[in-house]
Amino acid sequence: MLQANQLIKRYESDGAIQTVLHGLDLHIKQGEFVAIMGASGSGKSTLLQLLGGLDKPTHGDVFLEAVNLGSMSERERTLIRRRKMGFVFQNYQLLPTLTVEENVAFPLYSDGRSRTETISRVHELLEQVGLKEQMRSFPSKLSGGQQQRVAIARALSLKPGLILADEPTGNLDRKRGQEILQLLARLHREEGLTVVMVTHDIYAAGFADRIITMQDGRITQEVGKVAKSNDQRLENFVAKFNT
Ligand SMILES: Nc1ncnc2c1ncn2[C@@H]1O[C@H](COP(=O)(O)OP(=O)(O)OP(=O)(O)O)[C@@H](O)[C@H]1O
Ligand SMILES: [Mg+2]
Repeated sequence: MLQANQLIKRYESDGAIQTVLHGLDLHIKQGEFVAIMGASGSGKSTLLQLLGGLDKPTHGDVFLEAVNLGSMSERERTLIRRRKMGFVFQNYQLLPTLTVEENVAFPLYSDGRSRTETISRVHELLEQVGLKEQMRSFPSKLSGGQQQRVAIARALSLKPGLILADEPTGNLDRKRGQEILQLLARLHREEGLTVVMVTHDIYAAGFADRIITMQDGRITQEVGKVAKSNDQRLENFVAKFNT
């Protein structure tokens, strides 16, 4: 579903060139849940931004369902991003002046969906993430975990097949983080959603089918298929990770 070929990303600042990704290859299959781990500064967010077409590689290509993001116009890329991908960030990025339901409705509205479709989809999503009662609240009145659930509902509003999440549990305590991970895992399992999640947290990564680790802009390790049973999951993962 998502393929990166020989991705190189360089940044130039004050005449100095820094190479952040060094020719990275990656293939993510439809319906996979992949975690990307690595130290701070190893290039995880940069990679996610390139995969999501939010930024362009210096060299190399990203294909979404065999379509090259780099060959599209900015307008086409915006549409693809909106309809085929959902983004979730560490700091939720909700619009503070809009209520919960308005935040979730925003992509539908931007995409020109009818009033009836928008309202029924928003209600369905808020039901799914367990926030129907808070739909008229403003984000500042919600806990971090609730805000992230709104962000996930918003990301799913146009029914994308792919979620790109950058440290979605980074601002949450273990319990709230676990709720978010369980929600992503359920969407992955029940709706066949493809999830690519950057995380620092080995516990969060244990929810994935495959874990990719990065170091200095390169993929250094891949760990496949971790156990799906909840109690065994983390132990099996850690055991594999350490071999
Ligand atoms: N817009 C930019 N301009 C210049 N350098 C950048 C830019 N964005 C990122 N970098 C540099 O690229 C490197 C990788 O950054 P990136 O944000 O991808 O790391 P990360 O793995 O997500 O780190 P963290 O875990 O701290 O979020 C860092 O050295 C960073 O300073
Ligand atoms: Mg980052």
